Amino acid sequence: MVGGLVCFDAIEKHALDRNIPVMQKEGIEFLIDTFQQHQCKSCLEIGSAIGYSSMMMVSNIDSFVVETIEIDEARYQEAQKNIKDYQLEDKIFIHLDDALEFDCNNRVFKSYDCLFIDAAKAQYQKFFEKYIPFLKEDGICIVDNLDFHGMIYDIDNIKNRNTKQLVKKIKRFKDWIFDHDAYSVEYYPIGDGICVIKRR
Ligand SMILES: C[S@@+](CC[C@H](N)C(=O)[O-])C[C@H]1O[C@@H](n2cnc3c(N)ncnc32)[C@H](O)[C@@H]1O
Repeated sequence: MVGGLVCFDAIEKHALDRNIPVMQKEGIEFLIDTFQQHQCKSCLEIGSAIGYSSMMMVSNIDSFVVETIEIDEARYQEAQKNIKDYQLEDKIFIHLDDALEFDCNNRVFKSYDCLFIDAAKAQYQKFFEKYIPFLKEDGICIVDNLDFHGMIYDIDNIKNRNTKQLVKKIKRFKDWIFDHDAYSVEYYPIGDGICVIKRR
């Protein structure tokens, strides 16, 4: 337990030992607090990895369900196993697919209180545009890793070409969403930068 939270430290460590990126504790705590404040009961997550963040959510928020999509088969299988080992199959529904190709008719839930985008950073805008229609009118969208280790503030000095392209794409999404007439955005300097997006 950290700050009264049910934790899955062995799963987190096993992921980090293999360079599988999972959300930092600070970020998860923020997520859980924010969902509780907004009385969220359902979340659509893009990017399950091995199921760690969805397991943290459903184990720390009453009557909470997560539907989540993962592109990588090995991670999907491992997530399935973790979910089963902790008997969370009635709270977490996972799909193996590219979220950009996923047939939305196969969704388990019709709409969600929260959309949590935690997959390929270069595709944030595409994920957002595809899935925002399924967010309830008063729902919230959370996007993680928007600072990219602070690099977003110093793009000119990034030497690696691929990293520079990626950071430019993240910045493009950030600028686009902050300037959007239809959404309001709150930024939190937690972990690598988290945004909470709401319809105006
Ligand atoms: C940062 S990890 C997710 C971590 C997880 N949310 C957690 O905190 O436990 C991002 C995951 O997104 C997956 N991913 C990347 N592109 C994707 C896509 N187009 N569709 C679905 N999953 C994708 C990656 O394979 C990776 O496992």
